[in-house]
Amino acid sequence: MNIVVTGGAGFIGSNFVYYMLENHPDDKIICYDKLTYAGNLETLEKAQSNKNFKFIKGDISNREEVEKLFIEEKPDVIVNFAAESHVDRSIEEPELFLKTNIIGTSILLDACKKFGIKRFHQVSTDEVYGDLPLDRPDLFFTEKTNLHTSSPYSASKASADLLTMAYGRTYNIPITISRCSNNYGPYHFPEKLIPLMIINALNDKKLPVYGEGLNVRDWLYVEDHCSAIDLILQNGKVGEVYNIGGHNERSNIEVVETILHILGKPETLIEHVTDRKGHDLRYAIDPTKIEEELGWTPKTSFSDGIRKTIDWYLENKSWWEKIISGEYQNYYERMYSNR
Ligand code: NAD
Ligand code: DAU
Repeated sequence: MNIVVTGGAGFIGSNFVYYMLENHPDDKIICYDKLTYAGNLETLEKAQSNKNFKFIKGDISNREEVEKLFIEEKPDVIVNFAAESHVDRSIEEPELFLKTNIIGTSILLDACKKFGIKRFHQVSTDEVYGDLPLDRPDLFFTEKTNLHTSSPYSASKASADLLTMAYGRTYNIPITISRCSNNYGPYHFPEKLIPLMIINALNDKKLPVYGEGLNVRDWLYVEDHCSAIDLILQNGKVGEVYNIGGHNERSNIEVVETILHILGKPETLIEHVTDRKGHDLRYAIDPTKIEEELGWTPKTSFSDGIRKTIDWYLENKSWWEKIISGEYQNYYERMYSNR
């Protein structure tokens, strides 16, 4: 099988590339990525020597480039990770999110219609369901929960989901969609909560917690997300949506305190800053469908996963030091100074 992984130079996409190269040595994995600020070829360094791996620089929202990809690589499967993925950036610059996440997905789907495909898998997010109240721990997102988005990012991802389903029904494209909770693990770009807090703590910098830090996220170790997508590709029912999550709910402040504790750094590094606009309160996935239909279970608990993640950042300083010494500094200044 020729499997095209769009966005494979980013956090989850790169972990998926490594997962597939290891678990499916008979498949060819083609990473198609625009290499935006979030894409990093160094992340794929260990894959480059694998004869089953190929990297192509390209933009999902460029029709000509996408058609060339289909003509030259003849993909059997597309797994679409490519996206603008950071909520705070979507609040600053919504239009880019519409272009990449909506138009880009539609161009990939058009190419599937034109050239044919065995499976188009859209990597979506639990954020399409909006949020749950903090005082109702009995409520969870199921696949039947209404789409109810809060940020330009989540609205763009929900739009892409709707387009994917529409192309499935109208043009009979064999689609599947997965909606996963918050991932963490190796190669996570330092703009996101967990790597940002690990790196700031290591550098004895303040840890900027939005508001009181009581918002809750449902954390999943990235490899467990990869195994879930792999199962959906193999045994998932065409046309279906699968929620992915491992019941690892933590408030942001709990996560930050855990990181400080593991690193032996003082809690005085925590600084409460102005809250995110429209900040979703709580995400919590009900993964019953993927567990019962496909037999998926997550392998890594939060306590093991966070230690493995911290160890990875300790052992791979050069990967993140390069990132935070570049354009990231302007981003950080824009987002956090005088906040
Ligand atoms: P990321 O920002 O780390 O990586 C995104 C990748 O997409 C980068 O390599 C970037 O260069 C590439 N890209 C961006 N625009 C592109 C374009 N126009 N054409 C081709 N490539 C482009 O993101 P991530 O955290 O790895 O998320 C990957 C996917 O998973 C996204 O679709 C996101 O919505 C979804 N998701 C993320 C999480 C999470 O916790 N991070 C959870 C659930 C779902
Ligand atoms: O739920 C899945 C989603 O998880 C994905 O679809 C997104 O691509 C991914 O970015 C992530 O979105 P979040 O907004 O939940 O992740 P983020 O790491 O940006 O923030 C996690 C929580 O931490 C959130 O409540 C905001 C808070 N936060 C974040 C940052 C960056 C802080 O308190 N301080 C910070 O500096």
